[in-house]
Amino acid sequence: MHSTHIVYFVLGLTVGGLWVQAEIQKPITEQCLICMCEALSGCNATAVCVNGACGIFRITWDQWVDSGRLTIPGDSPLTDSSFTNCANDPYCAADTLQSYMVKYGQDCNDDAKEDCYDYGAIHYMGPFNCKADMPYTYESIFRRCLRNAMRDDKRQKSS
Ligand SMILES: *[C@@H]1O[C@H](CO)[C@@H](O)[C@H](O)[C@H]1NC(C)=O
Repeated sequence: MHSTHIVYFVLGLTVGGLWVQAEIQKPITEQCLICMCEALSGCNATAVCVNGACGIFRITWDQWVDSGRLTIPGDSPLTDSSFTNCANDPYCAADTLQSYMVKYGQDCNDDAKEDCYDYGAIHYMGPFNCKADMPYTYESIFRRCLRNAMRDDKRQKSS
């Protein structure tokens, strides 16, 4: 084997290994993420922080730190702006929530499954208070979005 081929081969293994490591678990479905942002911000992608909670999912600094300080490409995990940059980036913010639910996912409403309702409650009220009632407006938008998604899903399957 030519030496440059060996270099590429080793590089490939290394990058491959990093890739597997960087691949994070994703317990939250795409549809669930959509309904969460719908209820939290109307999925308004304008970069904004409301009372310290930023982006379409209104992620807080504490959640970001707790989730492993994910960053957009090129940012350092150690600066304050990395938090707002990540929370205001839909992909980085979604991955942050995924990693948060890997850590804190649980059955909050005692229906014997861990699903989108639980994630919505955990994100809004915190992992240690997720059995409490969700605020009315948040819950009604969230549930309506999930109901509509299920209905569209059935319609697609039957057509
Ligand atoms: C999105 O949020 C920004 C900042 O809060 C606001 O100015 C804008 O009107 C919102 N857009 C929509 C479509 O609601």
